[in-house]
Amino acid sequence: MENVNMEGSYTAYEIVPLPKEKWQGTLIPMRYTTTEYYDVSVGQKEDGFRVTLEKKTFAEPVSHTPEEYDFPDKLYQEHWEKACAWGVLEGQEMIACIETCPEEWSNRLMVTELWVHEAHRRKGIAHELMAVAKEQARLERRRALILETQSCNVGAIAFYLQEGFTLIGFDSCCYQNGDLDRKEVRLDLGMLYNRRPELKREDIEIRPETEKDYFGTEEMTMRAFWNKHHKGCNEHFLVHKLRTSGDYLPGLSRIAVRDGRVIGGIFYSRAWLKKDDRSMEILTFGPLCVEPAWQGCGVGRLLLEETMALAKQAGYPGIVIFGEPDYYPHRGFVTCDKLGITTAEGKNSDAFMGCELFPGALKAFGGSFYESEIFEQLSPEETEIFSAQFPPLRKQYFPMQW
Ligand SMILES: CC(C)(COP(=O)(O)OP(=O)(O)OC[C@H]1O[C@@H](n2cnc3c(N)ncnc32)[C@H](O)[C@@H]1OP(=O)(O)O)[C@@H](O)C(=O)NCCC(=O)NCCS
Repeated sequence: MENVNMEGSYTAYEIVPLPKEKWQGTLIPMRYTTTEYYDVSVGQKEDGFRVTLEKKTFAEPVSHTPEEYDFPDKLYQEHWEKACAWGVLEGQEMIACIETCPEEWSNRLMVTELWVHEAHRRKGIAHELMAVAKEQARLERRRALILETQSCNVGAIAFYLQEGFTLIGFDSCCYQNGDLDRKEVRLDLGMLYNRRPELKREDIEIRPETEKDYFGTEEMTMRAFWNKHHKGCNEHFLVHKLRTSGDYLPGLSRIAVRDGRVIGGIFYSRAWLKKDDRSMEILTFGPLCVEPAWQGCGVGRLLLEETMALAKQAGYPGIVIFGEPDYYPHRGFVTCDKLGITTAEGKNSDAFMGCELFPGALKAFGGSFYESEIFEQLSPEETEIFSAQFPPLRKQYFPMQW
């Protein structure tokens, strides 16, 4: 079977979610043999401490097996409360797995388990599994991906270094008091996601889209939403269809361009508040999106500021959207219940928000919100066909999806 990996190339392995209900308690046969170890030495001197980790060779190869440990590795151990696991199956048998768990207080994602069956090692499976953990860390905006390994697991350490991890710490008595002498010391490795610096208005071009930008805009939109709310996404197809709709407002919509590449976009369309037999034209936008590598650098804010000023100049009373409840309140939006507005079905939620461009302009009307019919017309089959023209991305389940 041909599958696409997280980096967009084809692979022989399908990575499937391993749901807790089915896989909790599954033993992970964490076997490995090593001829080398990192010798950890800790020395105290008058002016401080000196720690060294030096690679050395064992006199005889050393093997580690799950049987030797009081707490063998298992999937979904109770203390990893928000764990999530993925794996590769051969029939019903698990031949590889990765488990992650967020450490919420520090906003880091931990890889709590990683294992590939001996018969399937050095075929790139761990690399593919790690790509899923990296993608989860990115989607959840974690500041680091971290994990624990042992100083004698030189093969695993080589793998982690290859993946971009570095040493972030160690614990000389995590497993037993004699870990240093036993040459099995807990090492902490991490991959730090440092955001790019904030972009200023003059660092990017913000302008209306031209036909030449269409493909780049759609590809950027696909990458920005991929696996975020559902497996895959349809927002890139929405942008494509929206341009053909009479409700689309190209005069307000803008893209952000840097070094000739589209790195963000915001797409406005006509919407309505309806009350009794009266109707008021307002605005909505969707999607607003930024290329993943440029997220968190202020591109979304710059696009919003510029286009909201345009909308105000044009005299629109306000904007109503369905969007991320954590993002828009910093940009002047409030939940629609505060404006006396409900959805067409009479509902309210944290994601349903509005912003008045003139004080009181939405609240004075209230009513229920209607957007262009184009938002309802995206069939999964058509989306699939449309997506095929872009570099492929793997559809994957992530815990933050709706
Ligand atoms: C560590 C482990 C998960 C790696 O799995 P894998 O599927 O064999 O790794 P990949 O094939 O994806 O490796 C990608 C690259 O990492 C590096 N790498 C992986 N294993 C390595 C090893 N034993 N020695 C040196 N480099 C290694 C290589 O650069 C490799 O690319 P290459 O094969 O083209 O040279 C696997 O050996 C394993 O399950 N070990 C036992 C369980 C374990 O120790 N888990 C980690 C607990 S902390």
